[in-house]
Amino acid sequence: MSATSSTNKKQAAITGVFGYVPDYVLTNQELETMVDTNDEWIKTRTGIEERRILKEEGVGTSFMATKAVKGLLEKTNTKPEEIDFLICATATPDMQFPATGNVIAHQSGLNCLSYDLMAACSGFLYGLVTGSQFIETGKYKKIIVVGADKMSSIINYEDRQTCVLFGDGAGAVLLEANEEGNGVIDSILRTDGAGATELYMKAGGSRYPATPETVANKEHYVTQNGAVVFKHAVKNMADTSAELAEKHGLTGDTIDFLVPHQANLRIIDATAKRLGLDSEKVLVNIAKYGNTTCATIPLCLRDFEDKFKKGDNLVLAAFGGGFTWGAVYLKWAY
Ligand code: UT7
Repeated sequence: MSATSSTNKKQAAITGVFGYVPDYVLTNQELETMVDTNDEWIKTRTGIEERRILKEEGVGTSFMATKAVKGLLEKTNTKPEEIDFLICATATPDMQFPATGNVIAHQSGLNCLSYDLMAACSGFLYGLVTGSQFIETGKYKKIIVVGADKMSSIINYEDRQTCVLFGDGAGAVLLEANEEGNGVIDSILRTDGAGATELYMKAGGSRYPATPETVANKEHYVTQNGAVVFKHAVKNMADTSAELAEKHGLTGDTIDFLVPHQANLRIIDATAKRLGLDSEKVLVNIAKYGNTTCATIPLCLRDFEDKFKKGDNLVLAAFGGGFTWGAVYLKWAY
């Protein structure tokens, strides 16, 4: 079904966006003092110049997510009791259980259904699509999707292959019904479990619970086969975005903005090239935050919100551990 033929349908529109990043800036120069790396390598291979790190003791992902959610409520003039449902996309929950979404909802003064969704770097897109279904059916009126990760809690700062890539942050959006034809028009989400051990944290779950050996072997940190993940990311993010664009007759001229997951500037460029987009249509903030996993896309929406006009065609795209990937076509609603 084309976007224009769905005008009477209730669609889930993003009606507000807010984000939070910690104050501490970990620069490429500081990383040079920690591992055998250099600013030039990191910038040219990834596009990253600095990332934020949550340094406060005893706080986790929910600390940042709660700041994003509270800010979102205030910015959109929404009372906590109006929220029906909160979805937290994260790969770094505060605890193995219960759900970090429950903690965020409680800390934000919400009294609603909440749960977590795990799709690694594609988590925000999966959460956005999940939340949209509840709006489209009319089950819920106001939903918050928050993507947040304290990646520094699972990064080995002695492993140059991963420690230069990731940062901490949180971003949240408010979803509400729209009957003007704006909002989430369509999506393609995919998974392939064959890639599960190409980018993962081996221990700490039910298969390899924490033991002195798993800790000594540094198995509670992210391990990535960078080149394999890169290859899959380039292909799948571009393929899915192009498939979705083609389905809706979108071209480089009619797409207003690409909002990509920020893992590597070269992956972003490949997707943009495939869609035939000029560089000013490709939203990039990887230099400032690195890869914040579930927070990259909402933080990007936050940073570039002023550019968007009602009715703009946005393509959101992500690829991550799992493997998980996908693309969302949405029309901006304000
Ligand atoms: O968001 C979730 C999905 N994750 C991703 O999308 C990440 C996908 N992967 C990537 O972005 C890239 O593969 C990386 C940025 C991780 C690595 O870039 P690459 O161009 O694939 O580099 P490489 O792994 O092929 O390594 C090239 C060289 C190697 O040295 P030799 O063997 O050629 O001598 C590495 O040891 O670069 C070396 N290297 C580094 N050098 C300086 C690897 N990491 C570093 C580093 N600093 N931090």
